[in-house]
Amino acid sequence: MRALSERTSRFTDSVIRRMTRVSNKYGAVNLSQGFPDFEPPREILERLKEVADEDYHQYSITWGAQNTREALAAKESRFMGIDIDPEKEVVITCGGTEAMMAAVMTVCNPGDKVAIFSPFYENYGADTILSGAQPIYVPLIPPEFNFDANVLEQAFKDGAKALILCNPSNPSGKVFTLEEMQIIADIAIKYDAYVITDEVYEHIVYKPNKMIYMASLPGMRERTISTGSLSKTYSITGWRLGYTIAPAEITDRIRKVHDFLTVGAAAPLQEAVVTGLRFGQDYYDALLDKYTHKRDLFCDGLRSAGLNFHKPEGAYYVMVDISEWNYDSDLDFCYNLAEKVGVGAVPGSSFFHENVNNLIRFHFAKKDETLREALSRLQDIRKKMERR
Ligand SMILES: Cc1ncc(COP(=O)(O)O)c(C=O)c1O
Repeated sequence: MRALSERTSRFTDSVIRRMTRVSNKYGAVNLSQGFPDFEPPREILERLKEVADEDYHQYSITWGAQNTREALAAKESRFMGIDIDPEKEVVITCGGTEAMMAAVMTVCNPGDKVAIFSPFYENYGADTILSGAQPIYVPLIPPEFNFDANVLEQAFKDGAKALILCNPSNPSGKVFTLEEMQIIADIAIKYDAYVITDEVYEHIVYKPNKMIYMASLPGMRERTISTGSLSKTYSITGWRLGYTIAPAEITDRIRKVHDFLTVGAAAPLQEAVVTGLRFGQDYYDALLDKYTHKRDLFCDGLRSAGLNFHKPEGAYYVMVDISEWNYDSDLDFCYNLAEKVGVGAVPGSSFFHENVNNLIRFHFAKKDETLREALSRLQDIRKKMERR
């Protein structure tokens, strides 16, 4: 048989999703793959029931139903502080996952270079490879996950055409400050580069940190493709709804890529989520309160188990230092943790380009009782996990 594609031969299976299978095998509390185990807002679900009896069962407009684009543009204009035209600047995609893929494919020619902060959400590597582009990794240095502006600039001197910026960041929990965002913006403008943001955790930014949208900074609107998702904001990861927001000429191209990739996002779900997109500020305040409570509950528990970690500023992940166990492989550590302690985590090495294997990632988008169960198991971690 002829060889299959060279590009896909470099893919491994997703370690995050593999750890879910490992957690299931050992009956572990699964804090690996980041999705909530609580219900989406009732109003959205009620609307979904109604939609079943309405006329939303055929293709919507490929770049997103009118109603959905309008509601999204109104919401994001409010949060991002920029005017967004639903007719020309929005694409509704199949999740933030497709939004990022379509954005990278729109920007890159084969052989182009893309700067990516490391640790990074694992899809970005695949997004660049499938677009024929090459990643240049820029370290976010643990435990604070700061970056060196000179190293970032070097990536652009070396030819990066775009930067993928995940803010708030998965897995590090970093929220980029205004000062850091300005450094990135200055470099992007100096090197005439694009910034492709991943803002799926835009509403999970713990006080006193602030969400700064790259597209809102002076000079950045025209060179920023903002991608986002409704998965986390409305606890509907299975609905596969995301979006891109970008100037009209860029959006025009993204729409074509999106059309050929998927034709469009599910029409009934696009309609049902409009209810959520129209929620007022109190919904987002309550969402943040809920996750602040979960972060504090989980971090307090980790602290009382004597574990070292970096308190997240945003998103719903925390990276825990496992250096004291002296494992060569953080993957082995996670297998053993699932089997012996009964908690599923993701090895940090699956997010780092650099050789880092002393961190593991938990997520805390779970019911309080699920988190308490995981924490009570973790209190025994030193009895159950042998050092090497
Ligand atoms: C940083 C980041 N981007 C994108 C996604 C995928 O989002 P979606 O469910 O909208 O495809 C995730 C999911 O965990 C994520 O953490």
